[in-house]
Amino acid sequence: HLQPPNDSQMGDLRRENCRAKGASGGFKVGVLGAAGGIGQPLALLMKMNPLVSVLHLYDVVNAPGVTADISHMDTSAVVRGFLGQQQLEDALTGMDLVIIPAGVPRKPGMTRDDLFNINAGIVKTLCEGIAKCCPKAIVNVISNPVNSTVPIAAEVFKKAGTYDPKRLLGVTMLDVVRANTFVAEVLGLDPREVDVPVVGGHAGVTILPLLSQVKPSSSFTPKEIDYLTDRIQNGGTEVVEAKAGAGSATLSMAYAAVKFADACLRGLRGDAGIVQCAYVASEVTELPFFASKVRLGRTGVEEIHPLGPLNEYERAGLEKAKKELAGSIQKGVSFIRK
Ligand code: NAD
Ligand code: LMR
Repeated sequence: HLQPPNDSQMGDLRRENCRAKGASGGFKVGVLGAAGGIGQPLALLMKMNPLVSVLHLYDVVNAPGVTADISHMDTSAVVRGFLGQQQLEDALTGMDLVIIPAGVPRKPGMTRDDLFNINAGIVKTLCEGIAKCCPKAIVNVISNPVNSTVPIAAEVFKKAGTYDPKRLLGVTMLDVVRANTFVAEVLGLDPREVDVPVVGGHAGVTILPLLSQVKPSSSFTPKEIDYLTDRIQNGGTEVVEAKAGAGSATLSMAYAAVKFADACLRGLRGDAGIVQCAYVASEVTELPFFASKVRLGRTGVEEIHPLGPLNEYERAGLEKAKKELAGSIQKGVSFIRK
């Protein structure tokens, strides 16, 4: 907690405890990097999620202000703020789900891999905290480059003896959200009715939309396929350039992160048939990590769906994706093993 409550705050605390009990069956969720461009709207949306009973907001700056602000929302989740490394362990203790949007974003001209030098160390430190304080939590990694930060997290957990591949998920949901939006636009449909599997990873050519598997079943001209594939693979860059130095996607990312976190929580609750794309430890290809559709349940990733039939265009895309992914995975692994 940022500050111990004084006497006049004790009433509030009792009410908070009541509410926490009232929402029993709810989950405890930690957001690491909660004061950032993604962190703030993500915290706001998680405070609105009825499955969340306790929300811990951690950052190295500005956590008290964001926490005070969000805590006034009249929804049932109890919000607590944690500031700086010395409060990381308190922030993590007891969490069922930890979402990590901590780290620096891209500026125009940068690749996601250009963020590695700063973000690798941030993710490493945060995952060391998770291994120590909430080793059974489901972990959603948003920090880029996701293709490398997920292998980094896995290596940290292996070193600590807590690694459970079913509980570590790289968030690629924004690629699916974008794909649904752009495909719906081309088909003239409501994006909520469209489902586009996006597999591989989360950077450039590693983002592989499977347009042959779009639901509802649809066909596209070669020109539409080129346009859609390129726009989905470069959606992040489109936002980075439009923001012109002020960062990367934050609002659509918060939306996507909450959609994904909600699926993880519904899985934890025991709901049936929860399937989303995510970047996980996988045997779907020869690579140790790969994004594809996964079924979420009480223990995290309970089933990894195969890629399904690919057309020639997608098979060529898969080869390109695997080549780049292999290097990014190795880079993450070496960062911890070196
Ligand atoms: P931001 O700079 O606005 O916010 C990042 C926050 O992380 C800041 O509040 C900062 O104080 C905090 N932070 C830095 N070091 C920390 C540490 N050691 N512990 C806790 N918090 C720390 O950036 P943003 O726009 O919110 O983006 C965050 C990350 O998410 C970037 O790496 C970005 O590339 C990535 N991202 C991923 C996706 C995806 O689809 N997976 C989408 C968008 C952005
Ligand atoms: C995105 O896809 O929007 C994120 O990965 C941020 C970025 O750098 O593009």
